[in-house]
Amino acid sequence: MFTPFNRPRRLRGTTEIRRMVRETNLSVDDFIYPLFVTYRKDGKTPIASMPGQFQLSIDLLVAEVQEAQSLGIPAVILFGLPESKDAMGSDSYDENGIIQKAVRAVKESVSDILVITDVCFCEYTDHGHCGMITDNYLDNDATLELLVRQAVSHARAGADMLAPSGMIDGMVGAIREGLDESGFEKMPILSYAVKYASGFYGPFRDAVESSPQSGDRKTHQMDPANVAEALKEAALDVEEGADILMVKPALSYLDVIRRIKERFELPLAAYNVSGEYSMVKAAAANGWIDERSVTLEILTSIKRAGADLILTYHAKDAAKWLS
Ligand code: PBG
Repeated sequence: MFTPFNRPRRLRGTTEIRRMVRETNLSVDDFIYPLFVTYRKDGKTPIASMPGQFQLSIDLLVAEVQEAQSLGIPAVILFGLPESKDAMGSDSYDENGIIQKAVRAVKESVSDILVITDVCFCEYTDHGHCGMITDNYLDNDATLELLVRQAVSHARAGADMLAPSGMIDGMVGAIREGLDESGFEKMPILSYAVKYASGFYGPFRDAVESSPQSGDRKTHQMDPANVAEALKEAALDVEEGADILMVKPALSYLDVIRRIKERFELPLAAYNVSGEYSMVKAAAANGWIDERSVTLEILTSIKRAGADLILTYHAKDAAKWLS
């Protein structure tokens, strides 16, 4: 009978020793909490496919950000539902657009938490695409011009960080230049550098009512099969002045997170997206999995893969479990 000399179990015997040799420590400092704000004044509307998440009126958004702050979450990212949508997505760069009003309201009453805004057009256009459409094609350079307007407008409203998410070529460079020319050279850019055309965004599109009216997003979001392309996208964003990179979604792309982390020196975020959240919630509601252990395992795996920051709808629950 072979008697093992090496016994890895020696370091697993008690809670204390396991704590001492733990290689990945998930912390509330890692979380960015996504929130949906609506022009509607009627409080909170549940998002059916995302149990526990709501479309919030501005007053309730402020309360929610306050709660996140008191749980120690360092940042929120805001998505807006405008009162009216048009071909140009003009609410997104209107001084009195939903995001501008929401950011001003939050900054007036909550401190010690970072307010990040998602910079994109799909929530604001009547056709549901992430920019201007010319001849049935997402017009890259026309979209860039309006993205700069949107970014500067979010900055004027008081956002602390901007997160362009459209996968428009040159978006980081254009926004960086536009911000600098408007006196916002201190504004950090968190770039959705590597964003796949994913089925996992389905519940989010219910949440912000942003499904494309026709077609899909495959001419700008990436093919899930590609990883060399991810390195190229990240390299371009680094060159164009991104301060933090993001990979999205997270779970089906842990290898991509690892590759980007190894190649680039910037802090890296990963987006634990709506569909990933909904699957956990649905299985937990059926009693098929234990929500707490599965959620913490998922978040730990995203961090272990190489993410420094995690955008997650589980942020409040996880913050409570970790405290
Ligand atoms: C675009 C945007 C999307 C998400 C974040 N920003 C949707 C899309 O690209 O279709 C998805 C986030 C999620 O699924 O949780 N504004």
